[in-house]
Amino acid sequence: MSGHEQKYINEAFETNWIAPLGPNVDAFEKEIAEYVGANDAVAVSSGTAAIHLALSLLDVNKGDIVFCSSLTFVASANPIIYQGADPVFIDSEPDTWNMSPQALERAFHDATNEGRLPKAVIVVNLYGQCAKMDEILSICNHYRVPIIEDAAESLGSTYKGRASGTFGKFGIFSFNGNKIITTSGGGMLISNDIEALKKARFLATQARDPAPHYQHSIIGFNYRLSNILAGIGRAQLEVLHDRVEARRVVFKRYHQELAHLPGFHLMPELEDTRSNRWLTALIINEADSGVSAGDVLKALANENIEARPVWKPLHMQPIFQGTRYYQHSNSENISEHLFNSGICLPSGSNLEEEDQLKIINCIKDVINNNSKERDVIHI
Ligand SMILES: Cc1ncc(COP(=O)(O)O)c(C=O)c1O
Repeated sequence: MSGHEQKYINEAFETNWIAPLGPNVDAFEKEIAEYVGANDAVAVSSGTAAIHLALSLLDVNKGDIVFCSSLTFVASANPIIYQGADPVFIDSEPDTWNMSPQALERAFHDATNEGRLPKAVIVVNLYGQCAKMDEILSICNHYRVPIIEDAAESLGSTYKGRASGTFGKFGIFSFNGNKIITTSGGGMLISNDIEALKKARFLATQARDPAPHYQHSIIGFNYRLSNILAGIGRAQLEVLHDRVEARRVVFKRYHQELAHLPGFHLMPELEDTRSNRWLTALIINEADSGVSAGDVLKALANENIEARPVWKPLHMQPIFQGTRYYQHSNSENISEHLFNSGICLPSGSNLEEEDQLKIINCIKDVINNNSKERDVIHI
């Protein structure tokens, strides 16, 4: 927290706006829309809810197909299942770790031949890094299929000077506790289509018809954000810039200390994009470094330092077994490679330099110890 949140919470209490609507909700929506340069925004209870609303607005229903990045958190795809539709997973490419345009093109090619185009494409911006939006937009525009940009992790990032999340028909952000700014839980749906977002507000408040009594003609959801949490979000948005800078400093320090080590490759930043570096992620080539991602994770855990593997691709998840998946190329399965060799390092905006050096030293020690062990075996 920045310290300013209490002011907005107090305002909500003093004016008795303790509801999933109110002045903080209205202002938070306006401020986010202004920040990213979108026409409008709808504050909701989670990023997952925002994706679900976007799919509903695009009329995704039972039996429809939705293309979705495979290397992501499960929340990107779960709403496809809520709607009774079928996901098709698309691999990553190595420059951004995000959706591979060439795999996407092949998926569209097959879908055209089968006479079953997807209703939407969910493009994820992993760990703050924007996907290759120009290429992806050009393919999706060609097939006239709308994009939902899952920018849950990339608020504050830019692609060619434009805010991440603003490239699709809809964009979504998450304010979950682990995100770059948080409301403890919450999300935002953004779009330039003001009419669609009006409908989103209607759907998110149980789809109540405009009648004096309670009347409902379609099924809605209870997805609006509380006025108190929106107050937290307003104060958090004020420090978003500082949070991005802090995370980029964390990344820079890791880069200075680790990038020159053989076999260590930090997540790239595509030219003309600026990542919020929500998480510093890297892959470790065991043959070159002498250590595996698992060795590093274990050594960090022994020091009580929490690090994680890169997201397990959705096409590898038990719940999505048998789901169609398009690899980057016949010989390159990028998301599986990233999962097998990737880790995310502690990257909090409040990570102290001293703590970060402890993490870095721990990683260097694993490499040294493993190489000593190898020397002993060799002797
Ligand atoms: C890529 C991605 N998409 C969607 C979500 C869902 O957001 P939420 O947790 O707010 O529902 C998250 C994070 O949790 C995420 O990382």
